[in-house]
Order: sequence, then structure tokens, then C-alpha cells
Amino acid sequence: MKGIILAGGKATRLYPLTQVISKQLLPVYNKPMIYYPLTTLMQAGIREILIISTPHDLPLYEELLGNGSNIGIDLQYKVQPEPKGLAEAFLIGESFIGNDSCSLILGDNLFFGSRFKESTKRAAKNNQGASIFAYHVDKPHAYGVVEFDNENRALSIVEKPEKPRSNYAVTGLYFYDNDVIEIAKSIQPSGRGEMEITDVNSIYLENKNLKVFTLGTGTAWLDTGTHDSLIEASSFVRTIENRQGIAIGSPEIAAFENKWIEVEQIKENFSKYPSNHRYTESILKSLNT
Ligand code: DAU
Repeated sequence: MKGIILAGGKATRLYPLTQVISKQLLPVYNKPMIYYPLTTLMQAGIREILIISTPHDLPLYEELLGNGSNIGIDLQYKVQPEPKGLAEAFLIGESFIGNDSCSLILGDNLFFGSRFKESTKRAAKNNQGASIFAYHVDKPHAYGVVEFDNENRALSIVEKPEKPRSNYAVTGLYFYDNDVIEIAKSIQPSGRGEMEITDVNSIYLENKNLKVFTLGTGTAWLDTGTHDSLIEASSFVRTIENRQGIAIGSPEIAAFENKWIEVEQIKENFSKYPSNHRYTESILKSLNT
């Protein structure tokens, strides 16, 4: 399975923070935001990853993450000239995906939880149909919303409904078989002029090829769309890291746990930081070294 991180868009709600820099490069406590979705894909076992961003920001991601070899992965980069919708990722990424299955994660989606990690590993192994994750939220109208029947089967998915039929939002992590490329090509831009991921998911649903997993209270799914939610995400990471002494959203730890790199490589990666650097310390402490 290949992975795509979509890290473009204008993020106008966060102006002036995002006036000259991509939202997904902003800090969430002690790391750039993109570290968290990158770690999520790596924890699912995905090693070949394409990062898509704006022409202005893509070089910054390349400078930050390089070709990924120092964290045991293969990173590639492609431009999305205009934010024409999430489903455009599969058209931009067509040659990268090739004949493989593909996961998409939004560069501003933060997930935490050990059971969640196991669910993503299972979803990444499944090469048939589509798997998405739904999360109970207080205000679902800002998201894609899934409606379930009495037996918890998905009935419909509606993008930003005025009257949501449930409190279950579709999170920004999706797993698809290779049909996603043709399905994405078949959809038309929505009223807001975007190729909607919800339309892709609705086609999988109509074809009875969509699995919707609900994430329980043991999993945190955080938003970073507003100034307040951005600082809340930072506080959340800070609280967990300081309390447990374990770094979260660390690609280095994910690579180490997957046995893609050794501790020596991590130490080499950090050799440019001062020896008492807090991030370095927290990673090495998490690895018990
Ligand atoms: O976060 C989950 C939600 O993400 C889902 O519940 C919705 O179904 C899905 O449509 C999406 O809704 P958003 O309103 O949050 O999408 P937004 O336009 O904010 O884009 C999400 C991220 O993707 C954001 O970081 C910017 C980036 N993006 C967006 C578009 C439209 C791109 O990189 N390219 C794009 O063309």
C-alpha cells in the first residue's frame, strides 16, 4: 500500500499565521504539524509516501523531510497547483500509486491511540474496497457525516450537512483499493468547486464496498482548523508527552518500532541538534536508550 499526505490548501481561517507558510508546517507543540499524519501512515506500515502541496510550499516540505531515507521510508513530492479538492490527490498521484492500493491522510489531521494504530495496520493490509474512520463529535456539520442504520451499517455520507443525521464525522484518513483512481476521475466538482472525497466514499458505499470503522473514546482525533483548535492540539500533545515521558507523532519512533531504522540512525539524524535538546531527549527516552 502507498500513502499520500495532502498538505496544500490556503487555510485562510488561520490568517495571518498561514499568509506566507503552509498550515501543515505550523507547530503542534514541539513538531511541525505534518509529523503527526506522517507518523500515522508509518505506524500503519506504509513506507512509500507522496506529499502533495502548493507550488510555494512543496520545496519547504522537501527541505524538512528530504527523501525519507534517514527515517527508513521513501518520500516523493508533487504539486497541486490549485486547491481543487481532496479527491484530486488520486489524479495527481496516479503514476505514484501505479497498480497499488492507496491511503490518503490530510496533513492537518492528528490521531492518537494504540487501538487506533492497530486498526490502521489492519486497514492497510486490506487491498479490497475502501475503509474509512468515523468519530463522534459534538458539532458534526463542519465535516463529512455518516448516517448508520440500527445495525451500525453506513447508510449515507453527506459533506457538511446543515442537518446532520448523526454525530459521526468522517476523519481525514482513508484507505482505498486501486479503483480509487478511476472513481476519482469519474466525479464532478461540487457546488463549492471541489472534487469531494465524500463523493468518492459515496460511490464505494453504493457499490457496497465501503467499511466504516467507528473510533471510540480511547482514540483522540484533533482538529487544527482554527487558532483555538491549534493551541488545543498543542496542549494535548504537551500534556501527554510531559506526563508519560513518551513522544507522540514522532516519525523516528514509528520507523524504529517498524524496524526500518536503528537507534544509531536516529542519533545521527539528531547530531545537528544540541545534545541536551528536548525533542531529541524525549525521543531517545521513549526508546529507552
Ligand atoms: O478533516 C476531515 C474532513 O476533511 C472530512 O470530514 C470532510 O469530509 C472532508 O471534506 C474534509 O473537510 P475539510 O473542510 O476539513 O476540508 P478542507 O477543505 O479544510 O481540507 C482539508 C485539508 O486538506 C486542509 O489541510 C487543506 C488540504 N487541502 C484541501 C483542499 C480542498 C489540500 O491540500 N488541497 C485541496 O484541494
